[in-house]
Amino acid sequence: MSSTSYSPTATAAWKTLQQHAASARQQNISDFFSHNPQRSSQMSLHCGELFLDYSKNLLSEQTWQALLDLAAQSPLEQHRAAMFSGEKINTTEDRAVLHAALRAEIGDQTVASAVEESDQRVRLVKQQLASVELVSEKIRSGNWLGSTGKPITDVVNIGIGGSDLGPKLACNALQEFAHPDISLHFISNVDGAEILTTLQKLDPETTLVALASKTFTTQETLLNAKTARNWFAEKLGLENAQSSSHFVGLTANRDNARAYGIPDDQILEFAEWVGGRYSLWSSIGLSIAISIGYQNFVEMLTGAREMDLHFQHAPAAQNMPIILALLGIWYSNFLDAQSTAVIPYCERLLLLPSYLQQLDMESNGKSTTIDGAPVEWQTGPILWGQTGTNGQHAFFQLLHQGTRLVPIDFIAAAVDKLSNEEHHRVLLGNMLAQGSALMTGQAAPEGQPYRYYPGNKPSNTLVLKQLSPKNFGALIALYEHKVFVQGSIWNINSFDQWGVELGKKMANQLLAAEGGDQTELDPSTTALFAHIKSCR
Ligand code: F6P
Repeated sequence: MSSTSYSPTATAAWKTLQQHAASARQQNISDFFSHNPQRSSQMSLHCGELFLDYSKNLLSEQTWQALLDLAAQSPLEQHRAAMFSGEKINTTEDRAVLHAALRAEIGDQTVASAVEESDQRVRLVKQQLASVELVSEKIRSGNWLGSTGKPITDVVNIGIGGSDLGPKLACNALQEFAHPDISLHFISNVDGAEILTTLQKLDPETTLVALASKTFTTQETLLNAKTARNWFAEKLGLENAQSSSHFVGLTANRDNARAYGIPDDQILEFAEWVGGRYSLWSSIGLSIAISIGYQNFVEMLTGAREMDLHFQHAPAAQNMPIILALLGIWYSNFLDAQSTAVIPYCERLLLLPSYLQQLDMESNGKSTTIDGAPVEWQTGPILWGQTGTNGQHAFFQLLHQGTRLVPIDFIAAAVDKLSNEEHHRVLLGNMLAQGSALMTGQAAPEGQPYRYYPGNKPSNTLVLKQLSPKNFGALIALYEHKVFVQGSIWNINSFDQWGVELGKKMANQLLAAEGGDQTELDPSTTALFAHIKSCR
């Protein structure tokens, strides 16, 4: 879909928002509450078991209306219909963007012209997920045997980026539901210390490698896989472990997996229209299904589907992904925020910020529009974060008294069966206190200016009833769609990742140059290369 005539800065809403930004700098969030006692109920909403309060934002009712106008004046609506109906909106890779199809049901498609195709896709997805069910249940029940006849106790997912972050986050987040006798391990970095120290602790007879790679060409993943194969060869005398029951391949490229030696019935495939950073819902999520069981995996998909339906059908003013996206745009494009923080008050969501870094920064870290022109507005923010309360004892100083504007998403589960009443009360009390303190601030006592809390710092608070597979699925889909909305308004392609290619190419050149001609490298890098060599 092309939106050649569209530029966000040319819309009437953009110009209005620019005017609002000047006055917003003089406004105070707390005052909005004094003027409107209904503010917190007006600026909060449910989607299933997710509850979002966005009242603590530097946002007047007029500004909110102007943001909604911006969404309406952008190609968002057409772009959303195009994505769900399978149009090739990833134009630079000539691909459709259909991760939502991984959790869809027959009949979900409402664009009449795309119904038949969509239902066929759902059938294909169900077929592919049937292999995830089969394999995960066989492993969980102890019926998948290693080469010496023993059941699997350890699964090592080897993959990087989207082939690692989603499954690792989900397994960690949903550990309440984990199989008691099967441990999951995640190897992503090409740093050999990671895989070597992990393998050292494992028994090769009862270890299964899930080789996860959409393309089956990724340097880091293939090197780690080679090390794992050598380990099986050394410990079990298994020369081609990749062709044994110790390996499964999770990929969109069956031919490459087959050429690598993985037996056909051990290749769990997904479609090329699933982007790497959106692939945890596909066979890339095998490790999740092994850990929490296939029925819980399906619950995760169900939660994501509920968010998909909400995103497709709720009006913009009551649409959670659109609300989060517009708030982000307000801060980065009009109030000059450079970054945004995600702070889960739940240790099991420790990996959420790094997962969202790929989702958000790989998707929207772009400076060329869909039409190939340079953008003249800010795009994706720097996303960072850490769990509370830990962050409170690290970087919260800057949030309270630093000079930078950092909008925050606080996330928590209202009920946590793995915790107890006392801990959970203290945990949630801290989160609520931080949101409140950041907004209200406090005057400095006489003669102690360093104790001044300016306040007026914005935050959203997202409360999940509990961290169930379903709510976790909805949470991740919420952020997927938030990123999509922002990309649509910024008129960029959120689904390619050309920015990572140059570094990959140069790493290959540099490695090829080892011991040889390095004239291609810049002088600083050549000197560093020589220094590292001299240290060996
Ligand atoms: O970092 C670039 C990238 O292509 C990501 O988008 C992707 O998730 C990752 O590499 C891994 O790719 P693959 O799954 O093909 O090994």
